[in-house]
Parts: sequence; structure tokens; C-alpha cells
Amino acid sequence: MRRIALLVFVLLLALPAGASAITSRIIGGQPAVQADWAATVALETTYGSQFCGGSLVAPQWVLTAGHCKIYPSGQIRVLAGTTALNDGTGERLVVERQVRHPNYRQVVPGAPRDDLMLVHLATPSIVTPIPLATGTVPPPTGTLLHVAGWGSTTYNAVNDSFGLGSEVLRTVAVRVKPAQQCVDAYGAKAFFPQDMVCASLPHRDACAGDSGGPLVDVPGAGGSLLGVVSWGTGCALARYPGVYSLIVHNRCWVESTINVPGAPSAIAVAQGDGTLAVDWQWTKPCADAPLPTTYRIRVAETGQVIDVGGGERRVVLSGLVNGAGYNVTVAAVNENGESAPVAIAASPGPNFVAEQRGIWTGYRTARIAFTLAPHGAPLQWRAEAGSGLRFSARPWQTVAPSEVPQLLTADLDGLPVGKAVDVRVVATDGVTTTNAERTQLPTPAKPAPITGVHAHGTFDVGRVVRCDLGRWAGTRPFAIERQWLLDGRPIPGAVNQALRLLPEQAGGSIACRVTVSGPGGVTQRTTAPNVVGG
Ligand code: ARG
Repeated sequence: MRRIALLVFVLLLALPAGASAITSRIIGGQPAVQADWAATVALETTYGSQFCGGSLVAPQWVLTAGHCKIYPSGQIRVLAGTTALNDGTGERLVVERQVRHPNYRQVVPGAPRDDLMLVHLATPSIVTPIPLATGTVPPPTGTLLHVAGWGSTTYNAVNDSFGLGSEVLRTVAVRVKPAQQCVDAYGAKAFFPQDMVCASLPHRDACAGDSGGPLVDVPGAGGSLLGVVSWGTGCALARYPGVYSLIVHNRCWVESTINVPGAPSAIAVAQGDGTLAVDWQWTKPCADAPLPTTYRIRVAETGQVIDVGGGERRVVLSGLVNGAGYNVTVAAVNENGESAPVAIAASPGPNFVAEQRGIWTGYRTARIAFTLAPHGAPLQWRAEAGSGLRFSARPWQTVAPSEVPQLLTADLDGLPVGKAVDVRVVATDGVTTTNAERTQLPTPAKPAPITGVHAHGTFDVGRVVRCDLGRWAGTRPFAIERQWLLDGRPIPGAVNQALRLLPEQAGGSIACRVTVSGPGGVTQRTTAPNVVGG
């Protein structure tokens, strides 16, 4: 076969340039020097049949053409580090997965766009990867570029048949054609100058089996990868230059697929209820970039590592010691590994859990019971009650460190009745404030007499008369005061049930006044006056 190729080559040299009548063309070029094409690899089936080329762009990643996704990963392998397919040299590497460009499509059959695929190897290759070209625009018309592959060395234009591939890697130089020439040849629906170049030189071209192989600026040291062999009509036909899929507009996709993700871009910690809420965001570097599969949250002090799915944006850490400092990091993770972490430090506040709300313990007073979660250092807190911005503080209280949650109570007095009151606990730092618990002290019912206040006995000097309080309805507890009156004025010290009538009271009028105070207010009742007889 090699002898046939050589013979045709010799024939061609004998013919005048551009002699298109011959049925079998040579695609030009020469055997490649291994050192100049060190990162070039062959994709072959596990039976050893080469079907595409590629380039090692990272120790475990090969960049090839999207249309080279023909077989399942288990049925292909990568041959690296050799120019010879069958002399036993080089590394044969297991393929783990094939990641075709998400926008790969063939609008016109045979003319794919975004014709790129990244092949992930099960183990890293020892070969040095080739860097991606750093340019931001397609190479200009006239640029001399180099391509290599094991593809067909002959093409028969008469019956459109491709010759056998080469046992050894071959390389050829081609020149970038004006974009308009490629559009004219292939049509504006097939050739897109932003993503592709077409290139050739007379009788020089890539051909079937070269797909996915490298298009480089300079072979060997200092060279970089500009694109991959993609498609063309026939091979080395004067009117139809070979078409290459450029990397320039897809560098972000390549890089974000083969590298670890960028670090999450934002993070915040909500605190205040004995837990830490960790929030983050991750920004796609480009629309085609794969998303992280996982976010990894680490708590340095506890050694805790929490992995959550790529759709999550928040983790709430609980079981932490209040007042203790924690260093938390968040990293984005994909198949290539873990991003740099974003770090934050925070300290959870006291845990305030209202267990009871608005329990009246007296007139306008209430008791709030709440729980403090375990805390590391002695914790000072005070209760505050109010609404909106107006809070009145109660004295500071100290609680010793504890392992178990403990129930504490705060007595609040002077509370408004029948209005919403916010009750909260503030820690010593003044910054850590618990959730304000809104509580509505129920509107208490004002004391109201059921049976009426009643004074009885014989209202004569020297006799003892009595004042019954009667029965009262309304919200308890009640504070009840009794006061005997002489001519409407309180008799000092006369607050007991019984009253002995004195001589100097003769002729005066005696009454009993009862004052009942409760959460709902104060009600007073006075008995009808009785004139003291002699
Ligand atoms: N699509 C071909 C392959 O699968 C490569 C085409 C390149 N053709 C060309 N004339 N340059 O190998």
C-alpha cells in the first residue's frame, strides 16, 4: 500500500501542476516527525482500527471533532506518543467518556458546526499536551498552517472513493483561504467564517480519517492548536478546500470542560438562631460551560464536609456552639476536581425559642419562656419588649456555658394591652439579636361585679359592720382593695372587712368602696351610705 502511494506520488511529480484529469490524487505532505507532533493522538476502536485523530490538550483530555463520536466510549481507545499505528510503540489509553460540544449540529448534512468533542481518558497520558492558540479572531487569509493525520492518502474524484489510511502520521502545510471563497464553494448555510476556516494548497489537503486531528500554527515547540480537521468535499479538490473547526469561539467551553470550576462568586452567612446559613452563587464563564456537579462545604473547626447537589445554593449548619467562631469554605466541584474555596468566618448567635407567648402574670406583665442552645462561653442576654424601633431593655442576665439547651424565663412588665408586642433577646455583643417574637397579649376583660358590693350590720355607735367584696368577673389576677369611707372620705387604715363604729362618727354617713384591678383595668364600686345612729 505504501508502495502504491509512493508510485502515485512519483507520477504526480511528473505531471504538470493542476492536472486535474488524474483519477487518483495524492494529498501531499510527508511523514511527521514525532517531536513536532507529540500531542497528536489517534482514536481507534478497541479492535485497533484508526478512525479519527485528536490532540492531547490536558493530561487526561483529547480534543477531537464532534462528528468523531461514532462508538460508545468502551469501544474506543486513544493511542498517544507515537507516529506509528502498529509498531507497538506509544501509550494505549482507556476512554472514560466523550463530551461533544453541546451545540454540535449538522444544518447541512456533512457540514457540522461546533464540530468539537473532548474525550476524557481514564488515566493521564505521559505526553505533554499542546496549548490552545491564544488568538481571539480566526487566522487571517493567507496564514500558513499545518495539519496532521493518519487519514487517506489518496482520493478518487471520478468515483468519489477514498484510499487507504496511512500507517504513520503524515503532515501537510495548508494556507487559509478567503472566507468568501469558502462560502462560495460550500454555501452560506454550511460555511460560517466566525467558527471555521477553509484551507488548502494545490494538491494538499486533509482527507477521510484525518478528522479531529490538529490544525497548528507551528509544528513542535512553541506551536499551538487552532482547530481540528472537520469536513470538506472530496479531498484536495481545487474548488473545495478542507474545512477546519476553529477553537477560538469555543475556548471557554474547552477550558471549562477540562478544568476545575471557578470558585463560587458570592457567599453570605445568615446568623441569629443558633445556626449558620451559608449561601453562595456560581457564575457560568460562558453559556456552554458545564455547571458544577457538586458544592462542597467544609467547617474547619468540626472537620465536617458536606456535599450538596449542583442545584443547591444554601446550606444551614446546625448543632454549632453559640458564640464560638467557625471558618466555613465553599468550593464548586466537577469531574476534574474542586475549585479554589471561598472562605468565610462567622459565629452563630444564641438560640431563642419562645415556648410560651404572652402569659399574663399580673396587670400588664407577662412571662416569656425561651430556650438557649448550647453555648461556649458565658453568655449574657437581656430581654427587650416593644414594637418597631422602640424597645425597652431589661437588665442583663448571665448564663454559664452549658451542653444542653436550657429553658430561661424573662419577666416583662408595663406591657401595652391589646397590642402586638415584639419580644426579643439580645446578646452581649449587641449585634447578635434573636428573632423578635411577635406576641399579642390578649385583650383582658375589665373587672365587673356579679353580685355587687354589700355592707351590712347595724349602723350604730359601738357596733361592728361588715363589707362584703361580692363576686367579680373579668381577667384575673385581681388586686382587690377595700376602703371604708366617712362622708365620702377614706378613713385612714380602715381597709378590713370589719369596722367598729366610733362615737365621733355618729351622724356621719358610712360607705364601703371596693377597687378591683386586673389586666383589663380597674373597677370601683361603693355601697350606698348608711347614717351612723347614736
Ligand atoms: N470528515 C473527514 C473525516 O471524518 C475529514 C474531512 C476532511 N476533508 C478534507 N477535504 N479536508 O475524517
